[in-house]
Amino acid sequence: MTRTDLSNVQVAKDYTGLCGLVADRIAALVQTKPNAVLGLATGSTPLGVYSALVRRHREEGLDFSRVTCFNLDEYYPMSPKSLHSYRQFMAMNLFDYINCPNWFVPDGLRRSASEIEQDCLEYEARIADAGGIDLQLLGIGRTGHVGFNEPGSSPDSRTRLVTLAEVTRQDAAPSFGGIDNVPRQAVSMGIGTIMDAREIVMMATGAGKAAIVRAAWTEDPTDHIPATWVRRHPNVHLRLDEGAASLLLEASLTN
Ligand code: PGA
Repeated sequence: MTRTDLSNVQVAKDYTGLCGLVADRIAALVQTKPNAVLGLATGSTPLGVYSALVRRHREEGLDFSRVTCFNLDEYYPMSPKSLHSYRQFMAMNLFDYINCPNWFVPDGLRRSASEIEQDCLEYEARIADAGGIDLQLLGIGRTGHVGFNEPGSSPDSRTRLVTLAEVTRQDAAPSFGGIDNVPRQAVSMGIGTIMDAREIVMMATGAGKAAIVRAAWTEDPTDHIPATWVRRHPNVHLRLDEGAASLLLEASLTN
């Protein structure tokens, strides 16, 4: 009988506690390594982390002036000026309020396939030039995607144009005013890009994520659930609130 390894899992009581845990880790890294390279995520999950970091910048002077940030993904096609863009999301929720001049989001502007390919190579090169990602923050989608690496993504994938799963588009539909307005594609760092980070913090909140969290942390690595690859990272930390942790904790007691 093998028990699920939960040594790298920490469960906070609620969303505020979860975001506090993750923000503390990011702040500690930035304090010990002022020129840290962060990989950041969008979606509703990390919002509380970003507001905690903004608060710590304002109240405690947490300094991001030498930090470099790379975001995981951007919808395609998507104007960087659109309020639906992840570029605007990051500006409105973090970068307009902290002193971090160097932040990058993949370019979602419509262009030729070869131009996109070239830009993806440049995104990878820019990460490498910055010294590689010290800490990659990840959410998890209901499909088990990380970034926009949907089921079928290979563990050695790099930044590229991807097709969004229907479930992912449905989840995004309310904020786009209907599924017909949700782009069908995105530009996303690959699983290989993510796995190159020196540390990964994956976070999930709420009972709606409990089933995929359990699958990600208990199933053998498989392209069908991209997050299962992440679990194999040598320095990965899963941070949950009680809702998101419920089925994983149950599984750890029964297997
Ligand atoms: P969410 O998205 O934070 O909005 O739930 C997570 C993800 O799709 O990675």
